[in-house]
Amino acid sequence: MEQVYDIVKLSSIPIMLAKILTVAESPDSSRDELVKVIEHDQTLAARVLEMANTAQYGLTRKIMTLNSAISLMGFEAVKELAVTGTIFSELSQNSGDKITEFWSHSFEVARASVCIANITGLIRPDATFLAGLLHDIGRPILYQLFKDEYLAALEGSTDHIQDEDELYGASHADVGSWFADKCCFPEVLIMAIRLHHIPGAHVLDPNSYLLPVIYLADYVVSENSDGYGSDSISSPDHEKILKILGVESDGLERLREEVIEIKKHTAAYYK
Ligand SMILES: [Fe+2]
Ligand SMILES: [Fe+2]
Repeated sequence: MEQVYDIVKLSSIPIMLAKILTVAESPDSSRDELVKVIEHDQTLAARVLEMANTAQYGLTRKIMTLNSAISLMGFEAVKELAVTGTIFSELSQNSGDKITEFWSHSFEVARASVCIANITGLIRPDATFLAGLLHDIGRPILYQLFKDEYLAALEGSTDHIQDEDELYGASHADVGSWFADKCCFPEVLIMAIRLHHIPGAHVLDPNSYLLPVIYLADYVVSENSDGYGSDSISSPDHEKILKILGVESDGLERLREEVIEIKKHTAAYYK
């Protein structure tokens, strides 16, 4: 595990994030400062607006400005989108086409988790969107470090967590949550990343539905999908999780139909 952590520590990602995090993490930073730092990078600004609109899936009015994104979603949510957008840009550099498989899976899980939030009404959609987007953040990081060796390890693997652990001494869940911790993300988000392959850990915090929601989104998105992005996730607590969420067979069918639409949309976006 130390080996992976040392390499990630030495990479330039945290340095590139420093600027945005300085504003994002200061308790005194204002809405204007946040808008200014995001606007400084037009690509980031466009990406944040795009993610804000995706997170508000189903909202008829399109979010056109960063200020209205903050009014609608709140300062915290836009701040986290900005940090996420920065990570996306950094990890996508020099990574070629393969990285989009990881990102499209993340987008699909993010949007599916918003659907589950809407279907169940148990959790705020914007909170689930970010957790969905970041649940597998460890995977593009591992890919950036080990490139084709990592993809070869995923090929034919039925238990990514175990195989990564054996190869690198850390799984993508470990690496991702470590990274989220370095980025000063909220504890609930760090835990969702760390535990997303063991959703039974929900019993640790029965008041948070985040873990079961991310699990179910990941499960449905990964069904019938075997690309590098797929998480091939299935928990022994599956039935219990559906019960916790109050999702019955008709709810699950509705979710599957939504996921088909989400996948079409994502495929068109990454074409
Ligand atoms: Fe995963
Ligand atoms: Fe996943």
